[in-house]
Amino acid sequence: MRIAVLHGPNLNALGTREPDVYGRTTLAEIDAALASEASSLGVEVSCEQHQGEGELIGAIHRVAAQGAAGLLVNPGAYTHYSYAVADALRSLSIPAVEVHLSNIHAREEYRRHSVTAASCVGVVAGFGADSYTVGLRALFTYLSRKRR
Ligand code: DQA
Repeated sequence: MRIAVLHGPNLNALGTREPDVYGRTTLAEIDAALASEASSLGVEVSCEQHQGEGELIGAIHRVAAQGAAGLLVNPGAYTHYSYAVADALRSLSIPAVEVHLSNIHAREEYRRHSVTAASCVGVVAGFGADSYTVGLRALFTYLSRKRR
């Protein structure tokens, strides 16, 4: 089983970007932690990062077509206003879990609403880089239950 991971805009700068908010873990370290968590679960992960809305939407369209069983996605700032990303997630035939490093509900007013979350089976937010591994585990458990 393969789980696709998509990181949205600005997440390539993790490590140096607002470390007080997002921590000092780099995106490469997050991807490595996901690969290690995935191997302990007996699944594969494929990770991509996209800066643009169109690129992210294209990648969302491709994940199911390329055989992934589920999608772990951090849409970055698109979370808060992109109906196009929300529509792409809604059209997916596989389950998606949304993750955020920060607790978006405890931040600026404009970050407190996610327009993309309703297209996902669940959301993990606020645990820093660990949000990804927790989200991967949650998605794996969800997929395992569905397969029984
Ligand atoms: C984020 C939260 C968003 O508000 C922000 O625009 C990001 C990162 C997070 O992971 O905490 O780019 O998605």
